[in-house]
Amino acid sequence: MRIPFVDLKSQGSELLEEFDAAFRSVVGRAAYTLGPEVEGFESAFASLCGCTRAIGVSSGTDALKLAYLAAGVRPGDEVLMPANTFIATAEAASHIGAKPVFVDCLADTANIDPARLADACTERTRAIVPVHLYGQPADMDPILEFAAARGIPVVEDACQAHGATYRGRPVGSMGAAAAFSFYPGKNLGALGDGGAVTTNDPRIADEVALLRNHGQSDKYTHAVIGYCDRLHNLQAAFLAVKLPRLADANAARRAAAAHYDRLFAGIAGVEPIVGRDDVERVFHLYVVQVEDRDAVRGALDAAGVDSGIHYPVPLHLTPAYRSLGYGAGDFPVAERMAGRILSLPMHPYLTPDQIEHVAEVLGAATS
Ligand SMILES: Cc1ncc(COP(=O)(O)O)c(C=O)c1O
Repeated sequence: MRIPFVDLKSQGSELLEEFDAAFRSVVGRAAYTLGPEVEGFESAFASLCGCTRAIGVSSGTDALKLAYLAAGVRPGDEVLMPANTFIATAEAASHIGAKPVFVDCLADTANIDPARLADACTERTRAIVPVHLYGQPADMDPILEFAAARGIPVVEDACQAHGATYRGRPVGSMGAAAAFSFYPGKNLGALGDGGAVTTNDPRIADEVALLRNHGQSDKYTHAVIGYCDRLHNLQAAFLAVKLPRLADANAARRAAAAHYDRLFAGIAGVEPIVGRDDVERVFHLYVVQVEDRDAVRGALDAAGVDSGIHYPVPLHLTPAYRSLGYGAGDFPVAERMAGRILSLPMHPYLTPDQIEHVAEVLGAATS
């Protein structure tokens, strides 16, 4: 028996009839672009995030790009972000001519270290991007305070954290804007690509809505040069089927994570990412740190357990960003973690038996 890393098939077959009805409804009306399904989903998703507006877009990467632009990032500006994130956080800045500037992370939570922002901040810094990595909110209050004191907008990268909260506040509602991804494997995933920007600022919302649709204020009236970054109506219809299940799916992930935590409490060689007391995590990923990670991963694989590494190379050492001039040793915490992190199977359909099997194999491989 193989234990898969994620299980998209179970959810797909469970919801097949509802997806089918959503598909038939959209195709029956031939309403493919920015139709009522997009609007309905946007308003439901905005409420989930405690925001007045959500704007459906084509991916998490485009959500970041449009959020950066609407927050005022322009060519030559600098955007602060953790070194240990998925490359899209940085790519979105590069796509609009801005420069990603990396910041080290905390050794316990793996989230951006607020105390390191001051070293990275310059007069060109135009946005700060905390990433709620693995589904755990970053330590937002000191970040928001630092940013507010300097008049710099905060854009949350919430692509891994749908439904998580920090000190009772939903992710997506704390910065000037936030970006979400609906890539199929996310906690809330479409049946293809999709994303959203959330905000409580009507100016930002209007600008993102304009930019995602060719800068079009009226049919064929183009107020600005925009993009073709719309959320498909069909994907919005599928997302509307899944949205009411998000809370239960997140609860199932939390239960699985608590089970892993209990089992790893007795295994010295396995160090789960630490959870803060003042957040509710949604465990997009369940990540541990181990010595000899690659050998341990090999042992898991041989025992039928799939795993992942998020992410093996911090962005400052990634070939695509060589031109930024960073080197090994610049972000020691992120670099050490990159060599030790291992993501274990995590999804709402994981059974207690599977979790126990994973823990047993991992315990044997690390002792
Ligand atoms: C932290 C983070 N930011 C941005 C993205 C980009 O999202 P998408 O793949 O929908 O473009 C992802 C998704 O992979 C992500 O995990």
